[in-house]
Amino acid sequence: MNPIDAALPVTHIPSSEIVGVGIDCEACPRFLELNETELARIYSSRERDHEKGSVRHHEHLAGKFAAKEAVIKALSAIAPLEPASIEILNDPRGRPFVVLPPELGLHYGVLVSVSHTSDIAMACALAFKK
Ligand SMILES: CC(C)(COP(=O)(O)OP(=O)(O)OC[C@H]1O[C@@H](n2cnc3c(N)ncnc32)[C@H](O)[C@@H]1OP(=O)(O)O)[C@@H](O)C(=O)NCCC(=O)NCCS
Repeated sequence: MNPIDAALPVTHIPSSEIVGVGIDCEACPRFLELNETELARIYSSRERDHEKGSVRHHEHLAGKFAAKEAVIKALSAIAPLEPASIEILNDPRGRPFVVLPPELGLHYGVLVSVSHTSDIAMACALAFKK
């Protein structure tokens, strides 16, 4: 194998399994302004529990919103989705993972990565068929 192919792990994923990619960025300060009703409309209680009490809580929420939007884009060829129907949770090591609506999650999965600063949160997503 040539060195470029060896450095590209994506070449080892069967392309027929990948159904879409998505990316999104959000302005973090906007998430400081959301009231309880708006928060409850977008996030599950499990999502809101992540880093609750942190002065950077709005950044975490902005990251999760960016991840939801990235997931929506990645699955746009499969099904229309609303942000509230997608959960972005964190495993014990902090890694984000996606919980899809059950009927969709049975057949598809999405990998996400999230990053945020005080200004901007961004996320990318890779959707695949199980
Ligand atoms: C975890 C780490 C990658 C975060 O990077 P960072 O530059 O500080 O912060 P970023 O804003 O770019 O990314 C933060 C996001 O990374 C994600 N993240 C956290 N831990 C992660 C991990 N182990 N793997 C992948 N993504 C991770 C989360 O989504 C987090 O945002 P959230 O808490 O709001 O969901 C970085 O702190 C690191 O490399 N730590 C050392 C090694 C490590 O894995 N530590 C975990 C302790 S078990």
